[in-house]
Amino acid sequence: MDAARVEELILEGKNSQEIRKKLKGRTQKSYEIKNKGKKVAQEVISTVKLPHPIYIDSASGGTMTDVDGNTYIDTTMGFGPIILGHNHEAIKDALNAQMEKGWLFGLPADQQFELGELLTEASPCAEEVIFANTGTEATMYAMRAARAFSGKSKIGVFDSAYHGGHDYALLFATYEEGTNSKPNGMYASAGISNVIKDETLMLLPYRNEAAYDMIRKNKDDLAAIILEGSQNSNPRLNNKDFLQGLRDVCTECDVLLILDEVVTGFRVDYGGIQGYYGIKADLATYGKILGGGFPIGAVAGREDIMAVFSGKGGERRIFHGGTFNGNPFSMVAGIAALSYLKEHKDTVYPSLMEKGNRLANEINDFCEKNDYPAQILNAGSKFHMKFQREPINSGFDIKNYYGGKHKQAENEFYLHLLGQDVIVPGVRLSFICDAHTDDDVSKIIDSMKYSFNAVREDGLF
Ligand SMILES: Cc1ncc(COP(=O)(O)O)c(C=O)c1O
Repeated sequence: MDAARVEELILEGKNSQEIRKKLKGRTQKSYEIKNKGKKVAQEVISTVKLPHPIYIDSASGGTMTDVDGNTYIDTTMGFGPIILGHNHEAIKDALNAQMEKGWLFGLPADQQFELGELLTEASPCAEEVIFANTGTEATMYAMRAARAFSGKSKIGVFDSAYHGGHDYALLFATYEEGTNSKPNGMYASAGISNVIKDETLMLLPYRNEAAYDMIRKNKDDLAAIILEGSQNSNPRLNNKDFLQGLRDVCTECDVLLILDEVVTGFRVDYGGIQGYYGIKADLATYGKILGGGFPIGAVAGREDIMAVFSGKGGERRIFHGGTFNGNPFSMVAGIAALSYLKEHKDTVYPSLMEKGNRLANEINDFCEKNDYPAQILNAGSKFHMKFQREPINSGFDIKNYYGGKHKQAENEFYLHLLGQDVIVPGVRLSFICDAHTDDDVSKIIDSMKYSFNAVREDGLF
């Protein structure tokens, strides 16, 4: 169906019209805020195609409430950090206690050691830890550390990866002659020098053993490879063989293996993806859950490599610093979150896994039976719906990154879902948290089914 015809169907569609009317009618304050905020360069990932974003006023447990008073089941979860649910009591208590003592010292406090201990205990590769403020900083520092330690200049990055917003993290893939064994690099952002792409990065294919030989051939230039053990772009938990292969090749070639655990850390297992698969990286990067909902990043890893941060590595010392690194609020929130997770890990993780799998399985069965062009990919409680029936082995197979043929139907689907009071972030990567009840998960499933049917009734697929 061509785009113009789809647009017509949206305009004509009874359900399309009704949902727009309903959503606009109940989000007037959001509309006013949008107009007020015109002079601010906002980083708003609009949730759905309304004339205005939905602005949030408060959140609690598994829900968020917007400025107009509408309450939604939230699957954004702060883009991943909120694993226990919004406003968790243990974290709130820790923050309140810290509030009385002060919120920024610059100089270190004992809490940095406490959170560092919790991280080194949980992360299989962590002998030492440094803190930063974001996952972006963590991956940037890990790459710098790998270059300094090895004396080599290039970092291998994988297609369909996300490692944050710095210049070394935004190389996306195009492919040669329809094969995913040789991805070509293309920046996902203007303003980055080609020198970075050509001289400091090397693009590798994810879930494709061709990567092994590429590493072997380039081992003299490659300081490290960095990857997510389960990519945000195609969440799954069947990557063990691929990761083990990479672990073996890296050891064989003296190339460092950096696992980006910014999302998977404390999410798929208390020990992150390394704990889940039983595979140890040389360095791992953390963020999100580690900060209990406050800004954080961390690099953890082998003591001999981490020595480049402290100067124990002599001449190879690298710069690492920042005003808010190890700030008290991030530390105490992180300690509270990790302590809770550690104590309840035998119940929290199986329950998150079960809820995420039930959601994915029920929706995937429903889509298959009814021939809806959609599927959910999930790594336990982290999930991403893709609007295509074709199987997805890796990011290479994903058709709807830049507007696949079901793009409009997808947008329409999320409008209906919002109308059913389920909010999914604009980037579509979604999370179940511990505060989501079985009934919440059932409500998400029912709302998704309702939304598929509403879109089909309008003739969009
Ligand atoms: C896998 C991964 N690495 C790094 C980052 C960057 O983290 P931050 O947004 O805290 O800079 C993200 C953020 O979503 C991520 O998903």
